[in-house]
Amino acid sequence: VEARLFTPGPVQVSPRVLAAASKPVASHRSAGFRRLLAETIAHLRLLLGVGRGGEALVLAGSGTTAVDALAWSLVPPGERVLVFSWGEFGSRLARSLRLRGARVDLVEAPPGEAVDVDAAARAAVSGGYRYAALVHNETSTGVAFRGVRELASALAGEGVRLLVDTVSGAGGEELRVDWGVYAAATCSHKAIASIPGVAVAAVSGWAVEELEAGAQPGTPPSIDLARHLGFLRERGETPFTPPVNALYALREALRVISEAGGPEAWARLHARRAEIVYSSGLPTLPRRGELRSHTVAAFRVGDAEAVKAALEGEGFIVATGMGALKRRVVRVGLMGHHSLSDFQALADALARHAR
Ligand SMILES: Cc1ncc(COP(=O)(O)O)c(C=O)c1O
Repeated sequence: VEARLFTPGPVQVSPRVLAAASKPVASHRSAGFRRLLAETIAHLRLLLGVGRGGEALVLAGSGTTAVDALAWSLVPPGERVLVFSWGEFGSRLARSLRLRGARVDLVEAPPGEAVDVDAAARAAVSGGYRYAALVHNETSTGVAFRGVRELASALAGEGVRLLVDTVSGAGGEELRVDWGVYAAATCSHKAIASIPGVAVAAVSGWAVEELEAGAQPGTPPSIDLARHLGFLRERGETPFTPPVNALYALREALRVISEAGGPEAWARLHARRAEIVYSSGLPTLPRRGELRSHTVAAFRVGDAEAVKAALEGEGFIVATGMGALKRRVVRVGLMGHHSLSDFQALADALARHAR
């Protein structure tokens, strides 16, 4: 059997999207490139619910690049930031902000859990923070935090800027910047189902105003969103050589989403896949059903390496847990170019091998 990716990213990419990547390289100072960029950004704005005044920016890089771009371009050094964290990617977000020079305080929840929206809002507001940050979909524990809408609007109303890592959420789990999110980070190779290479920063009108007021001190040019925004608005281009072929692929993947019925239909498709895979009946790391992610399923197993190897023998490439969860958790990606019957076969294989 030819093994296929059911990993938490990168994901299985369709032949159609791969073919788009093999077009001749175009100059990024050409009308054709400007059309490619404009169409890609229009799709990304829809996918990420970017309202008027906001923008979707693309950078060469991965999910980490997008998170770093938010930290360096939007948070002034010395600023206090409250980070809500319940897994590896929450820790990485906090680390990125600390390296940027922010003074980070943490509100943590155990693996498989997330914070309570009211408690989170109270902690940020009563603590006098101007910035807060969290991971929408915690890939290390298979937890989707579905309180972003409520929390972002509560925080925005109090003048608190909420930065969101939706690297493994966007596309599969609904997230809209116009809920009151200050800025969000994602990339090409998760639920959008394209090849790696493009980092995406979706910024609100509020963040655009601050970017237009000037760059933050000490931001490296490659991740400087003020510079990317200026170039886009003035010339319809990127300031530096973009990953042109990864952008061809990304545009095609976004067309696929649009043809499938748009962002809401794409999220519903992932919910359906999740329902199938969770019906394998294995215990999940998140004990509360409402926290189970629709893009990454994390199951508690006896011997994660053995389960992973058995699944691979049937053609399903999956991942084990991260860090302390490595031996006891198997993570299955619900993203990428697969049919519902592929997910049914995966659920059956999980039920057989993970007892
Ligand atoms: C939630 C989250 N944030 C950030 C990243 C980092 O993304 P990348 O590996 O593309 O840099 C990942 C990757 O799995 C992720 O799942």
